[in-house]
Amino acid sequence: MNLKGGVAKTTTTVGLAEMLTSEFKKKVLVIDLDPQTNATLMLIGENKWKDLNEDGYTIATIFEEALDPDEVKFILEKTIQKSVSNISSIKNLDLLPSSLDLMDVQERIAKMATGPFHETNPIEILKKAIRPINYHYDYILIDCPPNLDIITLNGLRISNGYLIPTVPDILSTYGIPQIVKRVKEFARNLDIKLESLGIVVTKYKENSKIHKSTLELLKNESDAPLFDSIFKENNQMANAADFTKYYSTFKEKWGYDSQSQAFYNLAKQIVERYERK
Ligand SMILES: Nc1ncnc2c1ncn2[C@@H]1O[C@H](COP(=O)(O)OP(=O)(O)O)[C@@H](O)[C@H]1O
Ligand SMILES: [Mg+2]
Repeated sequence: MNLKGGVAKTTTTVGLAEMLTSEFKKKVLVIDLDPQTNATLMLIGENKWKDLNEDGYTIATIFEEALDPDEVKFILEKTIQKSVSNISSIKNLDLLPSSLDLMDVQERIAKMATGPFHETNPIEILKKAIRPINYHYDYILIDCPPNLDIITLNGLRISNGYLIPTVPDILSTYGIPQIVKRVKEFARNLDIKLESLGIVVTKYKENSKIHKSTLELLKNESDAPLFDSIFKENNQMANAADFTKYYSTFKEKWGYDSQSQAFYNLAKQIVERYERK
């Protein structure tokens, strides 16, 4: 979650998912909630996505069904894409793909939210839809759009915690206290537990004064803890967005240097947090 675009939310989601499946042997589902479909394109490529989108096998159909249950049927088994990713050694990563149509649906769902009588609670549409498969996964990672609209709230509704990826500059970090505050209120209203897991620094430029000083400020940020895994700005991280390349291992895709180590540390901290019992 971050209200800014371009701060590596999607890159962090996909890399973390691939790390959890490859090095930690977890079964992971990525839910792409962003109509920009970037996580979807990174994991299955454009051609596959176009076919699915034409057939209505995307997350948009979940919400369309809620709006018009007599006309639209969401078919979970056909929509879940099994064993995705362009890293050939990865087998246990599934995806619920997104669609540009989500933009349209978003507005209609938002209106539905204000209507006085409706049998479906608009905050719980996603929750209901994925209930049959919830427990098939060790981790479900949700890539959110840069807003706190109704579709994003559907993602928060089914989450135990959230990460805030951010570039350490003034504008990208500006909204963080507001995100933390609003998510806290949301969780309190619904009486659910939703932890702020922490801030993940992305696209860090070592030679930038502003990045250095913002990083120092973030260390003292009281709203959310700072993960010590820092993702430096780096070409290989940017190239990882290209689905048309094929890799055999995580490190081959994401890099042999600090990037893979940063993903490893981030995944380790999350796993330790949820499996400490
Ligand atoms: N560490 C990095 N170094 C260089 N480029 C990066 C890095 N992380 C992400 N990028 C690139 O930055 C852009 C924005 O990242 P993305 O994950 O799409 O952000 P968001 O989902 O927050 O909009 C993408 O082109 C991505 O490939
Ligand atoms: Mg994104």
